[in-house]
Amino acid sequence: MTPTSTLQNRTYRLRRRPVTDLSDGALEFATEALEVDLAEGEVLLRNLYLSLDPTNRIWASDYRGYMPPVPLDDVMRGVCMAEVLESRREDLPVGAKVVSSSGWQDYCVASDESLGIPIAALPDPVPAPLSTFVGVLGHNGATAYIGFELGPVKAGETVVVSGAAGATGSVAGQIAKARGARVVGIAGGPAKCEHVVKHLGFDACVDYKADDWRDQLDHATPDGIDVDFENVGGEIMDHVLSRLNIGARVLLCGMISQYNDYGHKELPGQHQIAQILMQRATMAGFLVLDHAELFEPAAMYLVGLMMEGKLVYDETVVDGLENAVAAYDQLYSGGNLGKLVVKVADPST
Ligand SMILES: NC(=O)c1ccc[n+]([C@@H]2O[C@H](COP(=O)([O-])OP(=O)(O)OC[C@H]3O[C@@H](n4cnc5c(N)ncnc54)[C@H](OP(=O)(O)O)[C@@H]3O)[C@@H](O)[C@H]2O)c1
Repeated sequence: MTPTSTLQNRTYRLRRRPVTDLSDGALEFATEALEVDLAEGEVLLRNLYLSLDPTNRIWASDYRGYMPPVPLDDVMRGVCMAEVLESRREDLPVGAKVVSSSGWQDYCVASDESLGIPIAALPDPVPAPLSTFVGVLGHNGATAYIGFELGPVKAGETVVVSGAAGATGSVAGQIAKARGARVVGIAGGPAKCEHVVKHLGFDACVDYKADDWRDQLDHATPDGIDVDFENVGGEIMDHVLSRLNIGARVLLCGMISQYNDYGHKELPGQHQIAQILMQRATMAGFLVLDHAELFEPAAMYLVGLMMEGKLVYDETVVDGLENAVAAYDQLYSGGNLGKLVVKVADPST
């Protein structure tokens, strides 16, 4: 069959499992010809923003995760904000803006089936900056909202949020604050901690890169910890567990301190796990992907908080798909403030 068009598509293909981080040569960047001849139900997407997420490192490894690993030689899996360039779907006309799993590339011929995750159309006109739909009004904001739907927080409780200056943690802390909790963040470095308190409105922030970070956390949580919104795992989580109150809830969102070890290093244990028993606490892992029905309520709630002046957000925008791998390590070195996103292209409409 003759294609209707042929595009030059820049792609990142996963050529082997990463040994350390995603910049270790596992991803190959190249330009390929993409022949487009849409079948019924397919659309041609052009990625405008590529979301960089800690979970990309999990997907690239063969660690037993929540989704199958990206097959070797496939385009790297990634969440994007995209526009429809050609369409054989009535509900997704040309020009529509969508969030989809269209991957680390410029263009993608896609259907719900081929991506495995339904393509989600944004409202027309799009009511907020496009990048926010892969950040504060997208999966990161939804994750924070869903965490507290599953483990509600009460006014007056002490909530600790690790990864406090990041895309998910910054929203989680502000939701807890809006619900009347005393909120203590954990972040890397004095500048980020100051930002978390002064700009995001947390009550306190612990600099985990300082030698006395355990003392700082003890001092900031004199009445113990009722809710842990956990983004990091490892020794930070261990110390948080050691301060849980009776009946505390651990909302296990992520364990970024370990992802770069997947596939090549023995993982450290959680030494204070017995505190879940001793304090009759609960710990539950949760995944944003399992709660698609809550995405819209989450976005409505978060927009409401913004309008009340109770939610602000930060973005670290990197220009150019060609810079995605170099930028990715910011998630692990702490180079990003708020959502880390790559601007791939300007919208055509
Ligand atoms: N369960 C879900 O459905 C779901 C959905 C989205 C995200 N998540 C999880 O949420 C967490 C945050 O993800 P995000 O996308 O919002 O990323 P992010 O917080 O915007 O960026 C990651 C941040 O983690 C911190 N970090 C990296 N390595 C660390 C370490 N060894 N110890 C302590 N902090 C470290 C860095 O901040 P510092 O400068 O403070 O070190 C970095 O900025 C991740 O664990 C992710 O897997 C889960």
